[in-house]
Amino acid sequence: MLIVANRLPVSVTRQRDGNYNYQASPGGLASALSALGRESKIRWIGWPGLMDPKQEDIEPVEKKLQEQYDAIPVFLTRKQIHRYYYGFSNSVLWPVLHYLTDHTHYNERDYIAYIEVNRIFSEKIAEVVKNFNTEDIVWIHDYQLMLLPAMLRKAFPELRIGFFLHTPFPSSEVFRSLPYREELLQGILGSTLVGLQTFSYQRHFASSVLHILGIEPAFDSIQLDTHTVHMGTFPISIDVQKIRKTVTLPSPEEEQRTLHYMIRERKLILSVDRLDYTKGILDRLRAYRKFLQRNPNLSEKIVMIQIAVPSRTEILDYQKLKYEVEVMIEEIEESYEHQTLSPIRFLYRSLPLKSLIRFYECADIALVTPYFDGMNLVAKEYVAVKKDTGVLILSERAGAAHELSEALLVNPRNPNEICLAIEEALQMNEEEKKQRMTAMYRRISRNDVYHWSDFFITQLSNVDTVESEDHTVYLSESHRARIFKSFANSFRRLILLDYDGTLHEITSLPMQAAPDAQLLDLLQKLTQLPNTEVAIVTGRERKDIVDWLGKLNLIFSAEHGLNIKWLHEQKWHNMTPPHTEKSWYRQIRNVLENYNRSTPGSFVEEKEASLTWHYRTVDPTLGKWKANELIIHLKNALANQPLEVVSGKMVVEVRLQGVNKGNIFDRMQELGKSYDFILGAGDDVTDEYLFEAMPKSSFSIKIGKHHSHADYRLNGVTEMRKLLEELVSL
Ligand code: UDP
Ligand code: G6P
Repeated sequence: MLIVANRLPVSVTRQRDGNYNYQASPGGLASALSALGRESKIRWIGWPGLMDPKQEDIEPVEKKLQEQYDAIPVFLTRKQIHRYYYGFSNSVLWPVLHYLTDHTHYNERDYIAYIEVNRIFSEKIAEVVKNFNTEDIVWIHDYQLMLLPAMLRKAFPELRIGFFLHTPFPSSEVFRSLPYREELLQGILGSTLVGLQTFSYQRHFASSVLHILGIEPAFDSIQLDTHTVHMGTFPISIDVQKIRKTVTLPSPEEEQRTLHYMIRERKLILSVDRLDYTKGILDRLRAYRKFLQRNPNLSEKIVMIQIAVPSRTEILDYQKLKYEVEVMIEEIEESYEHQTLSPIRFLYRSLPLKSLIRFYECADIALVTPYFDGMNLVAKEYVAVKKDTGVLILSERAGAAHELSEALLVNPRNPNEICLAIEEALQMNEEEKKQRMTAMYRRISRNDVYHWSDFFITQLSNVDTVESEDHTVYLSESHRARIFKSFANSFRRLILLDYDGTLHEITSLPMQAAPDAQLLDLLQKLTQLPNTEVAIVTGRERKDIVDWLGKLNLIFSAEHGLNIKWLHEQKWHNMTPPHTEKSWYRQIRNVLENYNRSTPGSFVEEKEASLTWHYRTVDPTLGKWKANELIIHLKNALANQPLEVVSGKMVVEVRLQGVNKGNIFDRMQELGKSYDFILGAGDDVTDEYLFEAMPKSSFSIKIGKHHSHADYRLNGVTEMRKLLEELVSL
């Protein structure tokens, strides 16, 4: 397995003396992923944190990372880091993913660097996986590499690619504020399996795919023309056993002394974060200040320690936050300078996990109040350390709140509420603390980081990357050759073609799909082939089809076979079953008009023997919901009528029963027509009638991915037109 993340779990820094220092990387992603290396054979690809390493240093750093950490470094220039990492990743994506759009600073060149660096990663991976086998897995992590899955998929169509997003995925209304949101989503959709931290993030992701790309996801998968993308919720976690082991080790005396010096028999409220504006530090400090004001008798009996790990320090918003946090802490300190001990301590540094665990142990309360957080591992670490005592005050907006519901959950934007939670925590009796903590501890020890990665990897490994859910197979070169051979050896040929979605791309409005010059030329050439008849078999009205294609020598079957015109004839043959009443038309039209009025963007198309409600330009969620409702409504209304309701691509159609695209074969039989080569193609459910009616020896082609009775599959209009061009050029 290859794990790919912007950051390797180890970061390299160049010291003044020219030597290199290797240290654990900051943040939850690195904490969680570094645990995995201990259990299984994993190689890493990522940025080692170095900027512009000297040429002569690259080789030794690379060697050490490979040998000691199984890590393959991706070296980036200062400029790339500036634009890709500080720029697009952390000044655009990071704030938007956390709903904090005020912190976005967009620059087009940063996005270009983002593409470039994703490509560098993709090339590096390609070197490693070039001879991959079907069990190999590439697992890509986080928002810095959203374009990478699609880049890799292009190079290795059958590779198992996992993508896990460590941050929240915001509502589609917010995600759509991103420049290049389509490209970013398409990038992620290169994956075989997309993992999110919570089900809400999964829902938001699916809804963005629907609203931004117009692709309708199923509950846990998205069907693309090229492959199926699976989705799932996989809450990340921590190495509980390792933490427990550390807890049982005696702590070095000096560490004990330092802690004792800071706390001095007082109650400890602990906060630990990267210094990041998503973490809600300022409102938390406001809450603590309020608490001190409301409880003057406690100001000498309590201390809050805020550990803030330096992060993304070149970004102005982070510098500004640091300044604001320091000012507020100074203000609190000043208010209590008459006391021997200050009720607040600010540690601006990163501690190794071992030392951090000592802080957790001493903390009576952990105060974790991010505005938004994908998960928040600090909350889980605190529970793992305390096990059956202590109180966790946790933001309801952290992903961890879904699993840690026994914490005191607070709105991180409301200092009053946080202040009350601190009071409640201080008054909580030991029995209640124990009950709450034990419940949370049990849950996280079952769902530790190994459980998380096993679950993701098992899901990814079980996906069938070679798609074979039905007998319809992609039209390969050898299938083509068979079609061409049969075509060349036949004497009476018939080609049946659906129009929308087969010969012409689907358009928002039906009348926008007029044929282009290339299509007219192609059809003309097809009709001129010797011994070949070409039929347009469409759901459209005959008027459209005559206006657009009437001059060509074609057979027409309009309105799903209701009206047929044979070659060289002027007359249309109406196939309405005998004794059909027309009174239904008005009744159904009224129903559809009601839906039309209550569904902005929808419209009704009236044809001679059918009525269609179109919802292609309606908000997709509303459209789908209304369509389902309409189908039920119509099925009840039509119970005793010779009519049927058909749900197609963004349409609900009511038409005469027994009239369908396959009927053309019955009519041909009646007229004694026979062919020794038949090829039929279509994209929608209505074309399935045609496929089913086609004789066994013929060739049927489904355009698109959905389940079909056709023998072969092509990926879209362009591929279909290309096949016809090849027939012409035979
Ligand atoms: N951490 C650390 N040393 C510190 C402070 C934090 O190693 O001085 C680790 C902490 O143990 C946790 C991670 O940093 O595993 C922070 O992860 P979290 O999910 O809480 O937030 P993120 O930084 O990923 O936004
Ligand atoms: C969060 C992100 C990670 C990132 C970490 C530290 O956890 O989801 O992708 O690695 O913060 O941030 P940094 O910018 O230092 O890598």
